[in-house]
Amino acid sequence: MIILGIETSCDETAAAVVRDGREILSNVVVSQIDIFAEYGGVIPEIAARSHLEAMMPVVNRALSDAGVSWDEIDAIAVTHAPGLLGSLLIGTLTARTLAILHNKPLYAVHHLKSHVYANWISKMALPQFPLLALVVSGGHTQILYMKGHNQFEIIGTTHDDAVGECFDKVAKILGLPYPGGPSIAKAALSGDSGRFKLPHPKVEGLDFSFSGLKTAVLRAVQKEVGVPISYPSHKLKELLSEKQICDFAASFQRTAVEILREKLEMALVEHPDVKSVVVAGGVSANEILRKALPDAYFPAPSLSGDNGAMVAAACYYEIQSGVEPTDPYKLDIYPRISIEN
Ligand SMILES: Nc1ncnc2c1ncn2[C@@H]1O[C@H](COP(=O)(O)OP(=O)(O)OP(=O)(O)O)[C@@H](O)[C@H]1O
Ligand SMILES: [Mg+2]
Repeated sequence: MIILGIETSCDETAAAVVRDGREILSNVVVSQIDIFAEYGGVIPEIAARSHLEAMMPVVNRALSDAGVSWDEIDAIAVTHAPGLLGSLLIGTLTARTLAILHNKPLYAVHHLKSHVYANWISKMALPQFPLLALVVSGGHTQILYMKGHNQFEIIGTTHDDAVGECFDKVAKILGLPYPGGPSIAKAALSGDSGRFKLPHPKVEGLDFSFSGLKTAVLRAVQKEVGVPISYPSHKLKELLSEKQICDFAASFQRTAVEILREKLEMALVEHPDVKSVVVAGGVSANEILRKALPDAYFPAPSLSGDNGAMVAAACYYEIQSGVEPTDPYKLDIYPRISIEN
């Protein structure tokens, strides 16, 4: 079965053609990172406009790279939730129109489901159920229990910021470029991860909190450079040396990874039946996290961030689980809906 996957939930315009949920025939991602590096974050209206410009060239490129015609496409899958409203609209309107034009079944896929199913692409050995999925992205930090394909139970979630968001905000404090995750990881390579002791949040059970860690970094930076807490945070970077920036990046990264690992270990104790652990979302590209969880499945680094291949893979397993296509005239978007709905 050959599926065209379309993804536009945030600032990547992406389309891919995937066979049987695991063989990538093409995977085209046009990122808006260069545009948003200037602003230090995503501006939703600009993201939507950029999707509109890039969408059809990206879809056409995905088909030509794969060497398939519309006749060979069995289904179209598109992200309909969660994400930025304007961004989701461009992807879903495109997918609906293409499904009607080419008379193809249309599937609406949850974005976090897609991140999880990136772990089924191009793998020799596939994850076994029941499993735990640690979702670590720009908008989410969750531990999911999966009894089988397409069955998701949230057993832990963040009370405030997502871990990826925390990487982005800490990078801003340190004056490192957007997106913060890769910048922090790079700076940390030359840093001493034991230099600054940062607290682990005290959150009950399997839930997370990352806004306190971001504030702890802010306070530690203010103390290190000797300014009061009222000092404008965007000016702190001017007072930091290269060495201090790298040490803060390494200390923060180590703490964030420790928090994730501790909660995952707790979840494994509570669910002794679990056979595999998969890690999903943009932060799963992090090398220190990969080293901290040597037995877990990780997507190929190129599939950690948003892409169309994971949407097509998730759709394939939805179809295998008996999910019916969506009426293209009625497909709706849900910017905030949970994976359990
Ligand atoms: N090497 C890395 N280390 C840590 N974080 C990283 C790394 N690479 C990317 N990230 C982070 O991953 C996040 C982007 O991931 P992703 O694209 O999955 O998020 P999103 O799509 O915006 O959010 P969501 O998937 O929750 O809707 C950013 O916060 C980015 O800083
Ligand atoms: Mg994402």
